[in-house]
Amino acid sequence: MLLPPEEHAANGYLIDQFLQSRTNHRTDKYGGSVENRYRFLGEVVAAVTEVWRPSQVGVRLSPNGVFNDMGSPDYREQFSYAIKQLAPIGLAYLHVLDGVGFGFHDLGEPMTLAEIRGIFSGVLIGNSGYDQASAETAISRGDADLIAFGRSCLSNPDLVERFTHQWPLAPVPDPNLWYAAGPDPHGYVDFPTYQEATAAR
Ligand SMILES: Cc1cc2nc3c(=O)[nH]c(=O)nc-3n(C[C@H](O)[C@H](O)[C@H](O)COP(=O)(O)O)c2cc1C
Repeated sequence: MLLPPEEHAANGYLIDQFLQSRTNHRTDKYGGSVENRYRFLGEVVAAVTEVWRPSQVGVRLSPNGVFNDMGSPDYREQFSYAIKQLAPIGLAYLHVLDGVGFGFHDLGEPMTLAEIRGIFSGVLIGNSGYDQASAETAISRGDADLIAFGRSCLSNPDLVERFTHQWPLAPVPDPNLWYAAGPDPHGYVDFPTYQEATAAR
């Protein structure tokens, strides 16, 4: 399957560093205001959508996140502005770490999917700290079209089947094991499926 390119503007990586006042202290046209801090992401999306159709391009944002030491006092103003700019482009999706389960900056109330839905009517993916029940609630309420799973996907390579059959989930692995592997698959792609785990008992 060919996945659309995702502009990763989350979790303190380069584009997020431009977006957020915590890290962007520039005095040129890329800093100093909400509009200027958005400029780099806007230019990246414009350049990418010259090559790919907008409907093939996704964007990822983390307005509530603290990963990589992020979290800006004006997060709501900044990300609301960014999402409003992205809304008319016709992107494949907007992917937002709205949940606080991967770390929360605690600078105010988290931005919610419902709030983002109010300014973005395209395909919206939520992420962070969801389980099957909370994901289904978010989708059935219309707050999101999809929910992405990270840690539970790692230890449950058959996560979709486990949800479908109501099979129990393997616990989230110790973070120290996530990348214990290096070139070794241990702790990364060696978690058993439910059927493999039960057959081994
Ligand atoms: C092993 C592992 C590697 C990850 N690598 C990245 C990464 O490179 N960049 C990123 O933005 N998020 C990364 N994440 C975060 C996930 O994309 C996701 O946002 C996070 O796990 C929260 O979702 P969850 O609560 O379903 O786990 C990683 C997560 C895990 C478990």
